[in-house]
Amino acid sequence: MKPRILVTGGTGYIGSHTVVELQNAGYPVVIIDNLSNSNRDVLDGIERITGIRPDFVEADCTDIDALRNLFDTYPGIKGIINFAASKAVGESMQKPVLYYRNNLNTLLNLLDLMAERDVDGIVFSSSCTVYGEPDVNPVTEQTPIKKATSPYGNTKQISEEIITDVINAGANFKSVILRYFNPVGAHPSAEIGELPNGVPQNLIPYLTQTAMGIRKELSVFGDDYNTPDGSCIRDYIDVVDLAKAHVIAIERMLTNASEDKIEIFNLGTGNGLSVLELINAFETATGVKVPHKIVGRRAGDIEKVWANPSHANNVLGWKALTPIADTMRSAWAWQCKLRERGIM
Ligand code: NAD
Ligand code: WQD
Repeated sequence: MKPRILVTGGTGYIGSHTVVELQNAGYPVVIIDNLSNSNRDVLDGIERITGIRPDFVEADCTDIDALRNLFDTYPGIKGIINFAASKAVGESMQKPVLYYRNNLNTLLNLLDLMAERDVDGIVFSSSCTVYGEPDVNPVTEQTPIKKATSPYGNTKQISEEIITDVINAGANFKSVILRYFNPVGAHPSAEIGELPNGVPQNLIPYLTQTAMGIRKELSVFGDDYNTPDGSCIRDYIDVVDLAKAHVIAIERMLTNASEDKIEIFNLGTGNGLSVLELINAFETATGVKVPHKIVGRRAGDIEKVWANPSHANNVLGWKALTPIADTMRSAWAWQCKLRERGIM
């Protein structure tokens, strides 16, 4: 029997896909989520895919008593994957206190509880946002961190520093920090996927909603960047590939496969795609047209960033394998499922 894993934010987008992969790998899972950016139906989707309904506690990770109760109710938790956070960059500029409080208090509570309850390791969701506008692409884990341009990005930088300080101070647990590039797509079953709240700010949900006719046209933010076609370049990583890396990271900490108490990995494909290339990939893979027009640049956008994932490839034995065409089809199948269910 494998040890129980606590997944915070486990009904969210990346969390739900990771719960599926953990359960497929034989880990019992307990999810804590306050449903601020997800809903309970996600548990049904996870159960339909895996045949197992994960244990679920509706509570807030900033509430340490709720976390203590959870540990009392579900003994034997040996690993934590911390997805719970507020993640909208624009909103964080308007409500910085909410972002610092939610993202940092969640992490601090978990670190306290780990020491108190003998948890062996924590996987932390960080982001390529820590690299800002890099001087050189692709970025490695040694690429310098740039000053954060939003409170959201700052919470990721501060969180990485907090974890490093706590471990260097002699904590009795390990940590793997995963820097995600741009997670996209959905589970190929179309049972779970991304549920954007209101008008999507991110490219793929806006694109699939436009393809569905919910939005009139997709605005491409800028075609005058210093890139081959003038639109911005990102590293779009399939969410199932991303989820699988978390299982490897958990296993690595629980089996003491590494001497290092703290490790950092970039999780990307290693391929940069422009906005226009991504629209083209979607149209080719699905046969569905995406009405779009070029508009001005979006304030604060990075021109280009993509990962050098060699460290994760070599050390974790993990690689992003899903072709972008399959990812575009899964994103579209999920959008069609939302329509079928009358959600969007
Ligand atoms: P998401 O919003 O879909 O999932 C986060 C989940 O956490 C939600 O279900 C939300 O209800 C829950 N939550 C938030 N605050 C909570 C709290 N205090 N207590 C309990 N539950 C809480 O987001 P996601 O895209 O799945 O992102 C997961 C993690 O990955 C986040 O930490 C995010 O910052 C990070 N990340 C995401 C991306 C991305 O583009 N999606 C990129 C890099 C890093
Ligand atoms: C991708 C590209 C836009 C919408 C954000 C966060 C980052 C990380 C991932 C968490 C850009 C262009 C977008 C649209 C467009 N999250 N675009 N029209 O900005 O790379 O990163 O999410 O850590 O921190 O900043 O992702 O999906 O918003 O944009 O042309 O309607 O698509 O300009 O080039 P981004 P995104």
